[in-house]
Amino acid sequence: GAARPRLAFLGTGYLGATYAICFAELGYEVLGFDVDEAKIAKLAGGAVPFHEPGLDELLRRNLAAGRLRFTTEYKETADFADVHFICVGTPQRADGMGADLSYVESAVTGLAQHLTRKALIVGKSTVPVGTAEWIEQLVGKHAPADLGIEVAWSPEFLQEGFAVEDVLRPNRIVIGVKSDWANAMLYASHKGVFDLAATEDREVPLVVTDFATAELVKVAANAFLATKISFINAMAEVCEVAGGDVTMLARSIGYDPRIGNRFLQAGVGFGGGCLPKDIRAFQARAQELGAGEALRFLHEVDLINLRRRTRVLQLAAELLGRRSGPAGPDLSGTRVAVLGATFKPNSDDVRDAPSLAVAALLAKAGADVHVYDPEGMENARAAQPDLTYEPSMNDAVRGADLVCVLTEWADFRNADPVALGELAAGRRVIDGRNCLDSALWTHAGWEYRGMGRP
Ligand code: UDX
Repeated sequence: GAARPRLAFLGTGYLGATYAICFAELGYEVLGFDVDEAKIAKLAGGAVPFHEPGLDELLRRNLAAGRLRFTTEYKETADFADVHFICVGTPQRADGMGADLSYVESAVTGLAQHLTRKALIVGKSTVPVGTAEWIEQLVGKHAPADLGIEVAWSPEFLQEGFAVEDVLRPNRIVIGVKSDWANAMLYASHKGVFDLAATEDREVPLVVTDFATAELVKVAANAFLATKISFINAMAEVCEVAGGDVTMLARSIGYDPRIGNRFLQAGVGFGGGCLPKDIRAFQARAQELGAGEALRFLHEVDLINLRRRTRVLQLAAELLGRRSGPAGPDLSGTRVAVLGATFKPNSDDVRDAPSLAVAALLAKAGADVHVYDPEGMENARAAQPDLTYEPSMNDAVRGADLVCVLTEWADFRNADPVALGELAAGRRVIDGRNCLDSALWTHAGWEYRGMGRP
């Protein structure tokens, strides 16, 4: 019933697994579903198949408590839950910028066929606006008509590395609903979140709205964040030709609370599984709807972001004293250490990582590239098998003519430039995240270049 609905999360990738585990932690009876038997076996055995701080412990605790189970059966899922959250992936389509909804389609149809009582299907994946209406039609086609299955939307805002906190202590909950029943079911499904907030003297704002708005909230938020990063990277470009320092500029404008100081870190730009693909899918959808012009600026946001990668290549050529031809610089005969492969620190995710993209650019220009990352080695090797991977920071730096720090891991920020200087063949460093103490490195004899800094 609505007092404590039973929850299913379909798709136990990063999003679904995190939600399933955290909602079990909040006291709900939870079932995680996936078609991938290996993934389900891992989760059921107490192992999280990706890197997310704190999640392993919560998984094991809630498996042991019996509140959390996993399955590969649609029928079991249909029988179990009152509320079904669709958490499957929506990758960028192979044939364009739009989102591929085939996993959403198979999850919804697979589930709908087996439903035997009234239930709520809630979309959570990041999708083009209009998907909830489409899911309603799918459900109408595949679920028994007399059950009155309803659909709703509730976007997520997880940041890798902070996902547990983001689920347990979200800064808002947004739901798109068409009926009071759906509203009540979703409220009950999140009561654990509101109750936890109350015990901690916090409040979690709840926004109840229509389908289209709820779907748009997620892509709008990501578009804004991407724009903020590209804005400061555009300022970095201007600083580079004007002789300014973008870190001081960001600090100075960030004191205005209307601007805020977060997400103003200039560097090699944004990557990951969300921001790049989401801003592209958003543009594609807006175009379909006839509002392409409204989002044309996102194309610039994307271009600014990608230009940061070639900027590193340009800086590398400068530092190594190489001329650029029409095909870009020739870095053959040089050895470059790339520190960082993941798209951000405290993650093992290398999807659309600027660091790996720059490593590939350097290699393409002829450099002998040696990569090290504290957590992302396995994924990096799978994504870019042609680069050389080293077991430690020291091994990567040994013999290098140039060191590029491209992900701001604490290990790199706290590295001793004196010790590294003894290993390197040439003391040249590019600080692709403006995360190093430039004075310290310069003092240790390194030729230092940051992003958007003199
Ligand atoms: C992002 C959103 O933050 C999250 O709300 C959404 O649900 C999913 O997408 P995530 O992909 O985990 O989350 O990473 P985030 O921490 O936002 O960083 C994205 C990228 O932007 C990283 O590559 C990061 O290095 C870069 N970034 C971030 C900057 O270059 N500068 C900044 O100031 C902030």
